[in-house]
Amino acid sequence: MRIGFLGLGGMGLPMALNLVRAGHEVSAWNRTSSRADAVRAAGGQVAGTAADAAEGAELVLTMLADDAAVSAVVFGDEATEGFLRALPRGAVHACTSTISVALSRRLAQAHAKHDQGYVAAPVFGRPQAAEAGQLTVVAAGAPAARARCREALEALGQTVHELGDDAPAANVVKLAGNFLIAGMMEALAEAFALGRKSGVDAAKLLEILNGGLVRSPLYQSYGTMMAQERFEPAGFKLSLGLKDMRLALAAADAAAVPMPLASLVHDHLLSGAARGWGDRDWTAMSRILSEAAGL
Ligand SMILES: NC(=O)c1ccc[n+]([C@@H]2O[C@H](COP(=O)([O-])OP(=O)(O)OC[C@H]3O[C@@H](n4cnc5c(N)ncnc54)[C@H](OP(=O)(O)O)[C@@H]3O)[C@@H](O)[C@H]2O)c1
Repeated sequence: MRIGFLGLGGMGLPMALNLVRAGHEVSAWNRTSSRADAVRAAGGQVAGTAADAAEGAELVLTMLADDAAVSAVVFGDEATEGFLRALPRGAVHACTSTISVALSRRLAQAHAKHDQGYVAAPVFGRPQAAEAGQLTVVAAGAPAARARCREALEALGQTVHELGDDAPAANVVKLAGNFLIAGMMEALAEAFALGRKSGVDAAKLLEILNGGLVRSPLYQSYGTMMAQERFEPAGFKLSLGLKDMRLALAAADAAAVPMPLASLVHDHLLSGAARGWGDRDWTAMSRILSEAAGL
């Protein structure tokens, strides 16, 4: 399949490489062009602009940072020529970034106007899972558009959940999921602060608690990073986690759903960003709870 792949960051690069390895004809583009060298070396094409990558494509996948980046790359801005007009009629845009429900709705409408398909396909899993082709994908959009991108999404993820016709519903699931993870991190960080302040080793605390009643793969992976205070290099940047809490709260506000825990986690991540920790892993949020305890 002819695929344009836009955005080769921590997640996008391993995803694009998996599509090349799966035998797709990939034309990749990234704002910082040196990131595309690895795609060329793996046998993919490198496009000079996002619009060039979309030209003649059957499917365009985007894996960009946030709403601003996705808007710039789809609709264009002073720095970037958007790909909306270059994407052929009948082709599909699958947006795998974590973006707002509102932008997802706008994208569905804009692509429909251009006789193109749109699938919201946000993913769960960190860069290592992307490398291993083991992401969990949640796909929503018109059935024909979903069918068009299914094979490509299966090359990226061990599980592809199909969620129906309403594209923004997939973004709601993604935001709800990241909120849940952040809430678990908050609980774990508070438990670690109590343990540490009381002289209990964090690794031991994790081993005991995760060995039984509250066992979770998330507590295992995030808990180990928190116990070791190993926040760099970031798998998922604190600035992006903060973005996701903002998006979850915006979706909650639009739906009139109070989410007090999301507000609390948002403020803790904001404190991390204010300390200049935006490029650290978002598990660095646990330091905020430690500092609050005088540790
Ligand atoms: N990391 C994770 O564990 C994870 C897991 C699931 C979902 N996500 C979501 O996946 C998306 C990407 O995350 P990531 O970790 O890959 O982020 P990242 O490493 O920071 O990469 C961000 C990408 O967006 C591009 N970009 C940023 N602003 C842009 C702009 N204005 N115009 C064009 N391109 C722009 C960057 O280009 P440059 O290289 O030029 O900066 C880069 O390709 C985010 O929405 C994130 O929330 C991440």
